[in-house]
This record gives sequence, C-alpha cells and structure tokens, in this order.
Amino acid sequence: MNNQVKILGCGLAKAQQKITNFDLEKRVETSDEWIVQRTGISSRYITIDENTSDLAVRASLQAIESAHIQNKDIDVILVATMTPDCLTPSTACLVQAKLGLNDVPIFAIDINAACSGFLYAFQLASDLINRYQKILIIGSETLSKMLNWDDRSTCVLFGDGAGAMIIGQGSSQLFHYANSEGDLSGVLKANGLTLTQNLQNQIPIDQFLTMQGNDVFRFAVRVLKESIENVLKQAHLTIDDIDLIIPHQANYRIINHVAKRMKVDISKFYMNLQEFGNTSAASIPIAYAQAHEAGLIDEHKRVILVGFGSGLTYGATLIDKVGGEECVK
Ligand code: COA
Repeated sequence: MNNQVKILGCGLAKAQQKITNFDLEKRVETSDEWIVQRTGISSRYITIDENTSDLAVRASLQAIESAHIQNKDIDVILVATMTPDCLTPSTACLVQAKLGLNDVPIFAIDINAACSGFLYAFQLASDLINRYQKILIIGSETLSKMLNWDDRSTCVLFGDGAGAMIIGQGSSQLFHYANSEGDLSGVLKANGLTLTQNLQNQIPIDQFLTMQGNDVFRFAVRVLKESIENVLKQAHLTIDDIDLIIPHQANYRIINHVAKRMKVDISKFYMNLQEFGNTSAASIPIAYAQAHEAGLIDEHKRVILVGFGSGLTYGATLIDKVGGEECVK
C-alpha cells in the first residue's frame, strides 16, 4: 500500500551523558579496538535522570519548531519504545501531558516493535493521515535501564536517545513493508526496567537484556536486504533510483554485509552509530534528523528507512520525493 504524506519536521534528543569505549574499558573486559572493529561504535549517550518520555519531549519540541507548528496542532502522538517510563500510562500519554496537551483531543498510543518500532509507527501514522492533520511520531529509548553493565557482549552496543518526526497530508509517496517472525527462543529479549545510575543497575539478573549476537547478525543481514527489495518492488524502482538509505544503527559490519550483497556503495547508507550506538526505536529517527541537518535530504530525494529488531521484527519505508519538509538544526 502507498500513502501520500508530507514530512513537516523532525528533531532529536541526545541523552545527557556520553560514554566512550574507553569508559567501558574501565568497567568490563573489552577494548576500544574490539568494539570499533566488530561494530563501528565509538561512543553512546546514556541518561542520568531523564526517562523515555523526557527524551521524547525534547525531540518532539525540536520537531514541532522545525515544522513551524504549535504543540496544540498535534492530533496524534505515537511513541515507539520498548523502554517505557512505566507500563501505564503510556509514554505517549506522558508526552501529551508534558507538552501541555492534556486538554486537547489526542489519539495517543505506544508501539512496541523493539528496534523496528519507528518503522511500524510510521506505517500506522501514514494509515491514519486521512483522518488526522498532524501526527507526531517518536522513537524514544532508555535502553541503559535494561542493560547489564557487567555483560560485555551487550553493554557496549546500546545507548539512549530519541528522534521525532511530524507528518501531515502531502504529496510524498510512502511504500511500507513490515514483518515479524514470532520468536520464543530468546534470541534477543529483556524482562525488566529500572533507571540506571552511574552504570549501576538494580534489576534482577534474569531481567536484563540478553542476546545471541551471531544469530541476530545473520537475521539482520537477511531481513534488511529482503525489506529494501520489497519496498523497491512496490515502488517499481531499483536501488540506483534511491539517494539515501537510513538503516537501523546496530552495527557497521551488518550494514556493510547488506551493501555488499546488494552491490550498493556503502556511502549510500547513512550511519551515525559511531557516536550513538544502537538506540533501538530511536535510531532511525535520530539518523533521519541528523541526515537532514547535514543537508543529505531535500525535497527531491528518494530515501529508504530500514530496520530490524527483537520480536523478531523488521521492515522498511521508501519515501518517494521527501517533499519540502523543514527539519531543525
Ligand atoms: N569485548 C571484547 N571481547 C568480546 C566482547 C567485547 N565487548 N564481546 C564479546 N567478546 C568476545 C567473545 O567472548 C568471543 O570470545 P571467544 O572467542 O574467546 O569466545 C569473541 O569476542 C568473539 O565473539 P563473537 O560473539 O563471535 O563476536 P562477533 O564478531 O559475532 O561480534 C557482536 C559480536 C555482538 C558485535 C555481533 O554478533 C553483532 O553485532 N550481532 C548483532 C547484534 C545486534 O545488532 N543486536 C541488536 C539487534 S536490534
């Protein structure tokens, strides 16, 4: 299915504390060299006292400003997250309140599709666009609160942050693909959440995020390629027609494998994972906002967003002619 929208604005929020690979060397048996070679990641940001809704609000305020609208113009708030502040109220309702919109009629929900969450939310948003005027789509995560900071196989990979986008009706065509492969084996899972302080985490050991890294790697390469090919087919385009691909920022080597398999120059893939690490549902909207800020996205561009995550979930959106949005610096 394809939908016509306009991307009106975008924004991002970095979490408060930058943690380098050298900082992690002091915590676990690892090295900057190992992390950079195996993942491409040099640093990540983690929260000190902000929760997922706080990061979401900061990214949203940037997006609202860049869209030249007011908070009260928003009709829908979708928050993609797997690290909500609490089970209920939803993060979307907390964002509504923190934006001062509790008296404004708003359709507000959270979406949990792990690292694919923003793509799922984007697809839902474009399906809602005939009924609502301005939709705020947010990916926001505080993964630091589900990480075991003594587990070197996971803690070096992830970070906190938020990205936001506002869409309205317009003339950009979107082609979506989303899929999931329900998994009970625990390839990538987490059970508990508490705010982390100074890399100390209080949750019981069996509730931390755990992962079978090699299985996730192979899955990721397969489904990123499949998802890109699916949206290209729907749009009757080839990879040569695409100006920029913004992948989920998990690992440079995963993205490099996909580029090689698809015979695409790696420079077509936008990456900021060196600085942010993997921020799950926030990674694609943060990268989109940064790519826009870097002048890589203008109204004539064709862009593919593509990602994968726990669930197992994956998907892509092809934006045909991004169409005149103004994103914040
Ligand atoms: N520092 C140093 N050594 C580490 C390490 C770290 N942070 N983490 C693991 N190692 C060690 C392992 O213990 C292993 O040691 P051994 O050979 O003595 O047993 C060795 O490095 C190789 O481990 P392996 O897991 O085979 O490495 P890898 O090349 O597959 O890289 C990942 C591991 C996690 C980086 C990689 O599998 C990956 O990126 N997978 C996808 C993860 C992902 O994207 N998850 C998010 C999904 S949304």
